[in-house]
Amino acid sequence: MVSYPDLRMRRLRDLAPIRSLTRETRLSPAEFIYPMFVTHGNGVKDPIEPMPGCYQMSVDLLAEEVGEAAELGVGGVLLFGLPAEKDPLGSEGYDPEGIVQEAVRAIKRDVPGMLVITDVCLCEYTDHGHCGVIDNGHVDNDATLELLARTAVTQVQAGADLVAPSAMMDGQVKAIREALNDQGYTGVPIMGYAAKYSSAFYGPFRVAAGSTPQFGDRRSYQMDPANARMAMREIESDIAEGADIVMVKPALAYLDVIHRARERFDHPLAAYNVSGEYSMVKAAGSQGWIDEKQVTLELLTSIKRAGADIILTYHAKEVARWLGEHS
Ligand code: PBG
Repeated sequence: MVSYPDLRMRRLRDLAPIRSLTRETRLSPAEFIYPMFVTHGNGVKDPIEPMPGCYQMSVDLLAEEVGEAAELGVGGVLLFGLPAEKDPLGSEGYDPEGIVQEAVRAIKRDVPGMLVITDVCLCEYTDHGHCGVIDNGHVDNDATLELLARTAVTQVQAGADLVAPSAMMDGQVKAIREALNDQGYTGVPIMGYAAKYSSAFYGPFRVAAGSTPQFGDRRSYQMDPANARMAMREIESDIAEGADIVMVKPALAYLDVIHRARERFDHPLAAYNVSGEYSMVKAAGSQGWIDEKQVTLELLTSIKRAGADIILTYHAKEVARWLGEHS
């Protein structure tokens, strides 16, 4: 066993090129997915207050922004929609002429090379703000499945490359897989929000998407933050139902869950660096309390180091830009 003074760990740290050579984890824009919010209208670009740098955008401006992301090498975009009207069944979510479906068609027309992912959930479209259909004050799992399946099919008909069910209904991946297969879309993959926790870190997103539950909370369907073993069972069940990619969400307070999932499963693993995680960095950064750029890079590196292959993050564009400056 070599030890000090023969062993000197600092040898590998003295020179920048040696540090670079021995770096174990690297970030690349190709593995980022940029979540975006699309709204009706023309020329609309409304800032989302708790998420500086993020906007609710109409389809025309969205397509431009997606073009920028493509030029920066960002791996994909994930679309969330703000409907013209909300109703108890979230009808615009599975309307072939819905806002997300329209946005997908526009992006595929204007930026054909960009990977377009759609979020499959009802919460942005329901007036009660829950992720499924309400029956007697309770979210009805099985009645929701058919609507999620319709949502995914209309999104894929519009041109979506990959669908990402986030409602946390049991059987949602299976229902969507079967519906896509029935329509001949056997080749379209599914990214399951497999281990999605009931998290206060989604707060800013709910402002962005106008999807705060009007009564109760999401604890009857999203996971208890205290549970890690249960996350493994959730991932296992998404895989059994046919998920091609699995996800842990949020990311930063759940790095242990990402790590466990990486050790246990060979499927591509995504981690969602959610809105509240973004807002905290932006808030402290704008006060000058932290070095925003370095903190952002350190956090995303930690998600990758924990084992994620894919990072969904609102930082995608800015980080892609920073990474481009280095090379
Ligand atoms: C929809 C959905 C949510 C997020 C992604 N998809 C909100 C929620 O479950 O309340 C949160 C994303 C974020 O906070 O960045 N169900």
